[in-house]
Amino acid sequence: MILKRLMKEKEDKVYKRNAISYYNQPMRSSRYDPVKVRWEDKICQDLYRVMVNRLIERGEKLKILDFGCGVGYGYHLLSNILEEDASVEEDDCKLLNNNDIEYYVGLDINHDMLEIANDRYKGDEKVATRQCDFSRDEYPERQFNIYFSSGVPFSHFNDDDFSFLLKKIFKHIKSFERSAFLVVDVLGRYSIEWQSRWADPSWHVYNMSFFSDGKVNEQVYMKFWGKELNDFVIEAAQEAGVKAELFDTFDRSIFIGRHIDTGSFNTNLKPMRTMVNRLFYPLERAPLPDMFMDYKYGGAPEDVRAYYERITYLWNYALATASSYLDIPVPDWFEVDEAYAIPESLKSDLEHLGEITRDKEIYEHTDDFRADVFEPSLGYLLRNIERDYSEGLGAAHTLISIFEVSP
Ligand SMILES: C[S@@+](CC[C@H](N)C(=O)[O-])C[C@H]1O[C@@H](n2cnc3c(N)ncnc32)[C@H](O)[C@@H]1O
Repeated sequence: MILKRLMKEKEDKVYKRNAISYYNQPMRSSRYDPVKVRWEDKICQDLYRVMVNRLIERGEKLKILDFGCGVGYGYHLLSNILEEDASVEEDDCKLLNNNDIEYYVGLDINHDMLEIANDRYKGDEKVATRQCDFSRDEYPERQFNIYFSSGVPFSHFNDDDFSFLLKKIFKHIKSFERSAFLVVDVLGRYSIEWQSRWADPSWHVYNMSFFSDGKVNEQVYMKFWGKELNDFVIEAAQEAGVKAELFDTFDRSIFIGRHIDTGSFNTNLKPMRTMVNRLFYPLERAPLPDMFMDYKYGGAPEDVRAYYERITYLWNYALATASSYLDIPVPDWFEVDEAYAIPESLKSDLEHLGEITRDKEIYEHTDDFRADVFEPSLGYLLRNIERDYSEGLGAAHTLISIFEVSP
């Protein structure tokens, strides 16, 4: 008995509970999977870079107000943008240095999220958070030049409430008589994740089942946006007496959104996020022939359908070319279609992948050429199709539009 108690005491000393949860993390499915970090976040950061550079060129330091900041992820995203062409000799390839950000204020209604943000950034005096409802409460009396959102917080508002919120933001910008960027991040109306809902009103129930690895379903009303988002924002600006101009708009997570794999709204999808993650995981080969897309986009407006068909063709063409380098058979239904021009940048990415394959002996020191060299390169190449040819039609999990607002 005594021996058992002593053993238990020792056990508790050696492995405390938090250590156990540390070791108990899932080996594969995680919020910060390669698709999030190397694909979704990186596409956003590549596009935020243009906005950030514009401010830096004007001699401005970043002053960020983050709506629905959660654990402060917006600060992480913006402060970790990489330089576009960093030289390999440098250890640090971040675009911004410590002086480039003057301050970041994160607003969120959720106290627990803010506690994590505060803990995460406790040593960083530029970071402050405030618990508030950003649709009703006053904003800090400070000038900001990036009014930021990520993780679709503005999709929690129906049209009337969103218009009210936008005017509140524009009033704040106007009061400082300085121009600013506004980043609007919302759910895409025509994501294939919810193809069954395309004909429904754009304000409907959303199932956030990917929380807790799909075990807990949280049902909330959300607003899904297509390209009409941009006119909506511009109109709200006019009504608030400021000018909003579209700076950039893009669709993010076209074939790899989290609900592709949960199948919560569309059960006809392949688990593409899992398969793309396998392109990036070390020592693991992805099932390339299964990654070809053979979907039909019935029910989408004409421009969305045409866009999907083009992106699908580019995706399949890239996979077919990559498979041919490895002598892997492609599905017999896939045919080269001369009607689609292959953009020069994709051609050149594919040529580089071919060169890597021809030179594979050079990589003998790695463990598995296909898993460790070829597939991650193919992963970046597929990602760049989404980044370079997206049109901002709401044809993806997230639609992001950046506006330049002048008083
Ligand atoms: C999906 S999370 C995104 C968090 C973070 N921006 C990110 O990219 O990870 C949305 C956040 O918006 C917050 N939120 C939603 N409506 C809000 C409101 N009216 N006022 C303040 N925060 C709100 C939620 O509490 C939640 O933390």
